Amino acid sequence: MFQEPKIAPSILSADFMNLESQIKLIEDAGAGYVHVDVMDGHFVPNLTIGVPVVKGLKKIARIPLDVHLMISNPLVQLPWYLGAGADMITMHVEAFDSVEDMQSAINQCHEAGVKAALSLKPKTPVSVLEPVIKDLDMVLIMSVEPGFSGQSYIEGSDLKVAQVVDMAKAAGVAPLIEVDGGIGLKTIAGVAKAGADVFVCGNAVYAQEDPAQALKDIEEVARQAQADLR
Ligand code: DX5
Ligand code: ZN
Repeated sequence: MFQEPKIAPSILSADFMNLESQIKLIEDAGAGYVHVDVMDGHFVPNLTIGVPVVKGLKKIARIPLDVHLMISNPLVQLPWYLGAGADMITMHVEAFDSVEDMQSAINQCHEAGVKAALSLKPKTPVSVLEPVIKDLDMVLIMSVEPGFSGQSYIEGSDLKVAQVVDMAKAAGVAPLIEVDGGIGLKTIAGVAKAGADVFVCGNAVYAQEDPAQALKDIEEVARQAQADLR
């Protein structure tokens, strides 16, 4: 929360036939993470990529892999991703049956030296994070329903970011706060002011004529929004 803004371009919007150059492009433009959207066709209707692609990305990426698991039964597949080269793994709270399972997933990440994050769909209240907030490296607030890139930002998502900030402060911790979905030039300032510091951008970077410049412009708006707070 309130760290130097980092843009995490989602390769879901990139050219899958040229992933290596698409990643180099965003690295050279100053991206903080490569955001990898794993969808299983069950937790969300869409189906994307899995372990072999994460392994391949790890060989070429110079910045950390931020792997967003939109999958059912995350405890079954988590070990595969821990071994594939993810630097940070985000799982959805809605996919767990119990707080104990959530805690176990977080512990497994940490035992493997991987950062642990949990994500909330737009309708899931922040309060579900209460029992585990102190152990999270990052919280991901979805600002669209997970499943597809190119959707419109859901207004009010900044309020959820602010609620995470309050909860974390009360618990005496300061996790990163990431927002994902419809983030771009017009929407980034609000969530940055609320306390987000990692910003997933799919179409707002990769679908632009000059993705490198788009990334820099978006990051600058976030930086300015944070500076306005001081
Ligand atoms: C949506 C994914 C997002 C998506 C973002 O379920 O988690 O990461 O690719 O794409 P944009 O930024 O275009 O909304
Ligand atoms: Zn994502």
